[in-house]
Amino acid sequence: MTLKPNAEAAEAVILYGRASFDRTQALKQLREQVEERLPHGWQESRIEIAFGDLTGPSLPQVLDELMREGVRSAAIVTCMVPADPALSTWLAGALNQWRQDRGTEMQVRLLPPVEQAIDLADAVAELLSQPESRDVALTEPSLGKPGWSKVPEHNRQIYFCIGARCAHRLAQPLFQHLRAKMKQHRALGAGPERVMCVRCSCLFPCNLGPLMTVYPGGFWYGGLTEARIDRIVEEHLVGGTPVQEFIVHVTEDHVTED
Ligand code: FES
Repeated sequence: MTLKPNAEAAEAVILYGRASFDRTQALKQLREQVEERLPHGWQESRIEIAFGDLTGPSLPQVLDELMREGVRSAAIVTCMVPADPALSTWLAGALNQWRQDRGTEMQVRLLPPVEQAIDLADAVAELLSQPESRDVALTEPSLGKPGWSKVPEHNRQIYFCIGARCAHRLAQPLFQHLRAKMKQHRALGAGPERVMCVRCSCLFPCNLGPLMTVYPGGFWYGGLTEARIDRIVEEHLVGGTPVQEFIVHVTEDHVTED
């Protein structure tokens, strides 16, 4: 991961958002706009972005990089609107866990979520006062593209959690690793042996994360690492034998694999 090159700064501001709502580009654009209007006292700070879902870098990845580059203080602004209420219950502890795990003295501060500084009623009124709108009558009626009626051929399904807690444990790069590893086996990508990989939100046992499930069979794999994923791909997805030592739960009444 490469951060923006203003590495002299001892302080950093991290804009923390969601790709699914903000889209990567929007958060990148926000960073540029924030850089142009940093208030007094923050002008020497570097601005970074981190994501709590779908894509990376995650907060720990960004913090790791800042720590390596000698940044002493990081202020995090959650930019998703509406803010995820779960953030207030787990993020501070998770960040302090990161400090403890790394043995770092870096100061990490959480600012109030950005929505607290936005007058949403004002924003709606502003939009209502603008003439721009789109009449849907000008768009062909449709509930989806024709190809979306077909269930793709596949043999197994994986649900890979990229909820906020798993993302904090680097689930996104692990998901990319899974995809890359699977690509080494052509049969897993198409045809009757295809494995459908679906990224999903929180599966609930966050403390066992990063997590993924494999169906049929209802196998829950926890504590995922690149090495574990490599074995799961080779032994379970290709070889057909679940890797017992990494299974944290098996869904009851599951269909037993041959
Ligand atoms: S965030 Fe993955 S199980 Fe909760």
